[in-house]
Amino acid sequence: MIRPKTEEEIALMREPCRIVKECLAFVGERICAGMTTKEVDDLVYRFIKAEGAEPSCLGYYGYPASACVSVNEVVVHGIPDGRVLEEGDIVSVDLCAYKNGFHGDGARTFCIGQVSPQNQKLVRVTEECFFHGIDGLKAGTPLYDISYRVQQYAEKNGFSVIRSYTGHGIGREMHEDPGVPNFGRRGTGPRLEAGTVICVEPMIAAGGWRVKVKDDGWTAVMADGKCAAHYENTLVIREDGVEILTL
Ligand code: MF3
Ligand code: CO
Repeated sequence: MIRPKTEEEIALMREPCRIVKECLAFVGERICAGMTTKEVDDLVYRFIKAEGAEPSCLGYYGYPASACVSVNEVVVHGIPDGRVLEEGDIVSVDLCAYKNGFHGDGARTFCIGQVSPQNQKLVRVTEECFFHGIDGLKAGTPLYDISYRVQQYAEKNGFSVIRSYTGHGIGREMHEDPGVPNFGRRGTGPRLEAGTVICVEPMIAAGGWRVKVKDDGWTAVMADGKCAAHYENTLVIREDGVEILTL
């Protein structure tokens, strides 16, 4: 069931969302070739703890880290380890912070040094998919208009959208109703009410959309080995538009 939040609840969510936003910027300023994905995770853990928050991902269904750090053909849920980032890699960093009894959630894809024109385009289009997806979004919009718009924009640019992972509602739980797919039919789904807080998170692939999960039970890689990118923000549906809490 979709339960819109009160202004009091939204006020409490600002803090974990601010921490997510600032942590992503902090990582973006430091991530570089030669770092391991575990070192990226350490930055995230320390930043979130220093803000008096908890990294929501750590221990979530047994997830062993504070961030998902997904390199190249890994689309989401990359478990930080000793993998060394190299010039030309694209790396998505997805993290959640818990404070005030609420979660915030966001992701960015970073380019390590000079990346190929195709990967530059993939990273740019993934971000643009988010903004295209929420264009015109306000109270009363059918949920899957977002999905439709993300899919249209990705496919128009020659990319595909991941089917097996979606955006989601967020609040006292990291994942609440509704699911927010990145594919769908315009004019369908429940009409979003003011105060509803959701995470819109395009996961976009350079090749086909098929994904397989590695034996670790988490790491989601593109079946064709092509690159994928991820961009996510937490936002509130308002009467006249949206308020993005992690930007
Ligand atoms: N932050 C992710 C999302 O967008 C979830 C991460 S799964 C976890 O929904 F296990 F790492 F927590
Ligand atoms: Co999310």
